[in-house]
Amino acid sequence: MNAPIGVIDSGVGGLTVAKQIINVLPNETIYYIGDTARCPYGPRKSEEVLAFTMQLAKALEKQNIKLLVIACNTATAVALDVLREQLSIPIVGVINAGARAAVKKTKHNRIVVLATEGTIKSGAYERALLALNTEAKIIPLACPTFVPLVESGEYEGQFAFDLVANGLKPLENKSFDTVILGCTHYPMIQHHIEKVVGPNVTVLSSAEETAKEVKELLTKHHLLRNENHKPHHIFYVTGSVPIFRTIAENWLEMKHLDVRKIQF
Ligand code: SIN
Repeated sequence: MNAPIGVIDSGVGGLTVAKQIINVLPNETIYYIGDTARCPYGPRKSEEVLAFTMQLAKALEKQNIKLLVIACNTATAVALDVLREQLSIPIVGVINAGARAAVKKTKHNRIVVLATEGTIKSGAYERALLALNTEAKIIPLACPTFVPLVESGEYEGQFAFDLVANGLKPLENKSFDTVILGCTHYPMIQHHIEKVVGPNVTVLSSAEETAKEVKELLTKHHLLRNENHKPHHIFYVTGSVPIFRTIAENWLEMKHLDVRKIQF
């Protein structure tokens, strides 16, 4: 019950999910691994993404986490089923959560999925969306420039907006009412994406639905930490500690985060 929740991602993107978990479950402690040295996962072969994801998951398993969140769509697409077979704790991915959120919101069943090449190629969102709504018309778009932009930490300003607008050009003249941010890095550039697609389109991420699922699962397994407790979160990164710290403190609106280096 007092054990931490594990959160893994290729880099800083999983912080968008961690933030929602902290909002919904303020007494829970989070142990996070961002594989920033090997980010992005999106263009990598699925065997490699699977191997990296297993390393991150096993490292947190050794720290006795009570539940694991794969807060990376690319990793969820290739590793969720394998990890569920290999680990004895509950595991939450982000793809079904994103699909559920979109199906609740869309009015005309025309849904854009923005994601990495790996996630788009896997077809995981199509499967998840069509399982929930057979009428859904899905417009997938890989956005390979977005993750490096977010990881650089330089995602404000005109240059960032232009890069996002350019990546979304294939959506010009397409009709849709909902956009899924099918990569956990993208909520950090959501304001640019919303500006490009306009006010009549709902842009949503999987973070809130994922946090809800985490709470439901912890409740179901009697693992919820109920007492009032100030958690000490730990963030492990394979790359630069200062870059991660700046982005994390800014995004989570927290100071003096415990960020540590980890090697694989
Ligand atoms: C990436 O590492 O390419 C992005 C992670 C994600 O798909 O959420």
